Amino acid sequence: MQQNTHHTESIRDYPSSVVSSQGYSNPETQFHSIRVALLAEELGRACNLSRDNMLKLKIAAYLHDIGKASIPEFILNKPSKLDDREWVVVKRHSEYGQKLVSQLNTPYCKEASFYVRHHHEHWDGSGYPDRLCRQSIPIISSIISLVDCYEAITELKPYRNRFNHDQAIKIMENDVGTKFDPYISKLFFSVIDDYHSEI
Ligand SMILES: [Fe+2]
Repeated sequence: MQQNTHHTESIRDYPSSVVSSQGYSNPETQFHSIRVALLAEELGRACNLSRDNMLKLKIAAYLHDIGKASIPEFILNKPSKLDDREWVVVKRHSEYGQKLVSQLNTPYCKEASFYVRHHHEHWDGSGYPDRLCRQSIPIISSIISLVDCYEAITELKPYRNRFNHDQAIKIMENDVGTKFDPYISKLFFSVIDDYHSEI
């Protein structure tokens, strides 16, 4: 309970222009973004990010999916799996997000927009939009990628049941070294164990 209070206070520290820019019409997407931002902060601390980088991380994590506001709702809310063409459309959200965040007139938003762009890059270069690989992927984007994946796996989706914590960890462990940065993954698994046991 104490942890939740801490998290609520933490989200109030976000720049008001960043919070109000969150124009998601879908409450599920908004809720997801808040959970990603809170967990990303924990992982950012474990990565010993500087104060400036923590601020950029907080903004980028909170707004990482804001580009989805530019994706047709019938695709976002589709009750079954997306087909290939729909996936192409959904994948554009990271570029749309970069544009939207870079236009916010708030300190650190320009830099944060770069991390929004790269939150779906993969360690082995199979991600998007720029197929960056290994150390060319910004650490802040790798943090968001791990946290985003965990939150997405453990959320209930229209087309499948929710995975529990242990199942999510097993799924993610298989993706270390292909999808995820091995070093940051190690820190993530330690942080998420503590985080999960506090809920
Ligand atoms: Fe995303």
